[in-house]
Amino acid sequence: MREAKVIYSVRTCVPLPPSREPLPLNFANSQALFRRAAEVIPGGIYGHTTPAATLPGATPYYAVEGFGCRYRDLDGNTFIDFLCGYGPMLLGYHHPEVEDAATAARARGAAFNHPTPLMVELAEALVARIDFADWAVFAKNGADLTSWTVMVAREYTGRPKILKIRGAYHGTHAWCTLGHGGLIPEDRAHIHDFPFNDVAALETLFALHRGRIAGLILTPFHHPAFADSELPSPAFVAACNRLCREHGTLQILDDVRCGFRLSTGGSHSVYGYTPDLSIYCKAIANGHPLSAAVGRAALKPAASRVFLTGSYWNDPAPMAAALATLAVIERDNIPARLAALGERFVTGFLALGEKHGVPLRASGPPAMPYVRVADDPSFIRTQQLCAAAVAEGVFLHPHHNWFISAAHTEADIDEALQRLDTAFLNLSLSS
Ligand SMILES: Cc1ncc(COP(=O)(O)O)c(C=O)c1O
Repeated sequence: MREAKVIYSVRTCVPLPPSREPLPLNFANSQALFRRAAEVIPGGIYGHTTPAATLPGATPYYAVEGFGCRYRDLDGNTFIDFLCGYGPMLLGYHHPEVEDAATAARARGAAFNHPTPLMVELAEALVARIDFADWAVFAKNGADLTSWTVMVAREYTGRPKILKIRGAYHGTHAWCTLGHGGLIPEDRAHIHDFPFNDVAALETLFALHRGRIAGLILTPFHHPAFADSELPSPAFVAACNRLCREHGTLQILDDVRCGFRLSTGGSHSVYGYTPDLSIYCKAIANGHPLSAAVGRAALKPAASRVFLTGSYWNDPAPMAAALATLAVIERDNIPARLAALGERFVTGFLALGEKHGVPLRASGPPAMPYVRVADDPSFIRTQQLCAAAVAEGVFLHPHHNWFISAAHTEADIDEALQRLDTAFLNLSLSS
């Protein structure tokens, strides 16, 4: 077993550049721990981080610590991270202003009998930043509030039906999970889906269920796993806005993944949606557990009638982290920075594909890009490309969109591209 190297200390927050690892990287500690985990944890690692969907042995299974845009795994390998914890890591691991705020709040206590004043301050901060928002509520995970906003739409309209985009992810609750286990047909009795950007299909559903549709839940752009990302067409956005207005249906924007990455005030403004309710989560507190839903004034009475609580939901530290994160996002115009860095990364990545004769396809906004091997329906070649990138110390996911963080610098992007150049040289793709 190789001894894990200390690449940097998060306690002293002194970052060091990653060491150049000999190929192939060693994931022996990760794999040994995974075998132990499988004895006591169903599936060993469950959910979206399961290693089951990637090439066996090609990626680490356990992280140990992170700083900025890099993290270290259990075997001492370090990676320039382009997954950013599947989204929460907006400003980078261990952002000093966020951590100081969270630590100061934590020092005063956790999970009190009551909310703290931080909850009011945070609601005020969201209402000030998000143009259509008149109120805010808080929970821990995205799914807590995608499900709650669906209930608010039903309470407000007195209608049962919810329209959703086919293949869109809104969490693990029964009405929306992409999994198959444990469901009964009644869970989806009033959920109807349609293909993203398909105006005709949406119009048909509105006509078919006239007067019965409580809410239309959307993501700002479509970012399914095992597929290219898809931006909304102006005609689709206009149809969503018009149909909701005409039918008295609430528009719910699930901004859990994109929120505060594309715009400082919520992603609806980027594409022109007119939501009644929006949900934020991943980036809002730079990794501290918090989600938020906001809504229009008219929905406040209905929102106050839909019971909402959880054991840890008043915990002040994540709220302090969110206030600090939102302040940095606005002060440093983080979305503009992410877009510029993402553009640099994607342009460089595509150029490497051309240089090495590997046709690539890029999709999604530059701040949340996804690049895969073109003409690769099984995603095997994309898995091989990502495995080669990981072997060179660049963490890419083969079938989930990527994230740029504000902790990436131009030098980090260029270093990642240099490493990818080597990855392409070592790459042998299945035919
Ligand atoms: C768009 C979207 N909605 C909802 C969720 C669910 O959030 P959580 O996993 O925090 O419950 C996710 C999580 O990835 C998401 O990407």
